[in-house]
Amino acid sequence: MNFPPTILSGMRPTGPLHLGHLLGALKNWAGLQDSYRCFYMVADWHAFFSEYEDPGMIREYTRQSVADWLSVGLDPEKSTIFVQSAVPEHAGLHLILSALTPLPWLERCPTYKEQLREVTGRDLLTYGFLGYPVLQAADIMLYRATAVPVGNDQVPHLELSREIVRRFNGLFRPVFPEPRPLLTESSRILGLDNRKMSKSYGNFIALSDPPAEIEKKVRGMITDTQRIRLSDPGHPEDCNVFSYHRLFNPGQLAEVEDCCRHARLGCTDCKKCLAGALADYLAPIREKRESWLKGDRVGEVLEAGTARARAAAAETISLVREAIKF
Ligand code: TRP
Ligand code: SF4
Repeated sequence: MNFPPTILSGMRPTGPLHLGHLLGALKNWAGLQDSYRCFYMVADWHAFFSEYEDPGMIREYTRQSVADWLSVGLDPEKSTIFVQSAVPEHAGLHLILSALTPLPWLERCPTYKEQLREVTGRDLLTYGFLGYPVLQAADIMLYRATAVPVGNDQVPHLELSREIVRRFNGLFRPVFPEPRPLLTESSRILGLDNRKMSKSYGNFIALSDPPAEIEKKVRGMITDTQRIRLSDPGHPEDCNVFSYHRLFNPGQLAEVEDCCRHARLGCTDCKKCLAGALADYLAPIREKRESWLKGDRVGEVLEAGTARARAAAAETISLVREAIKF
């Protein structure tokens, strides 16, 4: 079977988007728009699986996420941008796939075990959360996606999706392509505290942070820990501030490096300089974001995207119902 090159990817609306999302996913998503049919989805049901006790913020984060996507270059003329729960076929296919997904496949999923271990303060020992990857498979399969851009951490989920595809195609008929992972060549960015940048660690710079907030956050960053006095030569290769300069201030990189090594630049000034560069880098994004949030432009994008997504999803569901003889 020949399937048209199609991308589906999604993000959970659980908080403001930050530099990690930008470099780890969004730039990549934007770059795929010219060579694939692209479906980009706000995975609000997936957010509900972990936030079900207090889901009130999901709706607002959904709107904010879409504004962020649009402001970094996702183009609603090229890509179908939509919200998972607005396309009821996701829940429908999830139900069908849940009939044929063996329980042990889900129980041995490493991300599931890891989340149960690491997430504290809420009860994730639920039937729904165990089935998280089944819903993800449904997302991908509904658009008969041939490729899925994912970060390293999502690879086990995608492998499960491929297994579910093979199982469906083998039991019935080859309705679905096996989606292949497009691994994001991410210029990994660490959080302000040198751990992975993540909402739950509170160590991020949001795409929507105003300059004063950026400056405050950068001021608190960890630098080269061997450098104690201004007169000590610094080691930029061991300094996270420097790796941010590399990403966001390439024009002054050589100068910063040289001055740091020769103790001609203090960390406080170095951070001020970075905060300025970051604010400049994010300024056009913030501006676009504001303009997308004016009126109900986000709502209009979503309405058009949902209509397109629903049409594609309905077509797949009718193939599925034929295949399972319903
Ligand atoms: N699980 C993904 C995340 O937490 C979000 C997601 C939902 C997704 N459905 C998907 C990603 C389908 C890729 C494909 O980031
Ligand atoms: Fe890091 Fe800049 Fe300080 Fe050098 S001067 S150690 S690069 S913060």
